[in-house]
Amino acid sequence: MIASNQAVQGRTVRFKIKRCDGPGKASYWQSFDVPIEPGSNIISCLQWIAAHPTTVDGEKTTPVVWDSGCLEEVCGACTMVINGRVRQSCSALIDVIAPGDGDVVTLEPMTKFPVIRDLWVDRERVFHNLKRVKAWVPIDGTYNLGSGPKEAPEKQGTRYVLSTCMSCGCCLEACPQFNLEEDEADWDTAFIGAHAISQARLFNEHETGKQLKGERLDALMGPGGVSDCGNAQNCVKVCPKHIPLTESISAMGRSVTLHAIASWFRR
Ligand code: SF4
Ligand code: SF4
Ligand code: FES
Repeated sequence: MIASNQAVQGRTVRFKIKRCDGPGKASYWQSFDVPIEPGSNIISCLQWIAAHPTTVDGEKTTPVVWDSGCLEEVCGACTMVINGRVRQSCSALIDVIAPGDGDVVTLEPMTKFPVIRDLWVDRERVFHNLKRVKAWVPIDGTYNLGSGPKEAPEKQGTRYVLSTCMSCGCCLEACPQFNLEEDEADWDTAFIGAHAISQARLFNEHETGKQLKGERLDALMGPGGVSDCGNAQNCVKVCPKHIPLTESISAMGRSVTLHAIASWFRR
């Protein structure tokens, strides 16, 4: 990594952006030269392009479209492929990724989700797959339910890191088993992805959330469940929250096996 104080000040960086005018439309590339301010990130550069939508060839064009929310790597909305690596654009500092005058930054939308426009994709399937494993704590009202069951600090620590998942989709973009599924009818049988497996673990280890443990394991036993993981371990390498995804996949694989054996004896 290059320290920001080594970056050339007063420089211009070229943004090569993969664009698409809408669902089903062909993609094309456009380039923009952007003057870099100290502390610039990808989002601030996209804002500059939105205000100056002229390509390096002098062609007036439409502003590039992207999604964002928190601007502090918490919501996951701004996830895109930057210089070939999936990550959040709000935390991608230009001084770090393109410190030289004339450096090139390539921006592409994620490929495992349908493109809505330009760099903006529809991440609905990320949330759909969380519903497949009932990734929530079941409570039956909003009234005061009293204090919950006690939990050891070590267990809280294990669950805390799992709870930092922001549903960004990086682990799905990098996974060779997770593919773009155009037809929603296939979503419930296609590979569920590392994020949902890890969230199933989070809620199965929660003292109240474990009420739905059996249903979560049933979901992970079925088509597209944990056995579809090919153990390529790409997911854990790209997770911006450093969630131990392969550890979660192993833990849930063991739980699913025990659940299958117990189900067989209950027949
Ligand atoms: S370990 Fe499994 S979930 Fe992670 S990238 Fe590989 S196949 Fe995908
Ligand atoms: S597990 Fe990591 S990479 Fe996957 S959606 Fe959650 S935060 Fe993103
Ligand atoms: S805008 Fe929320 S993670 Fe980047």
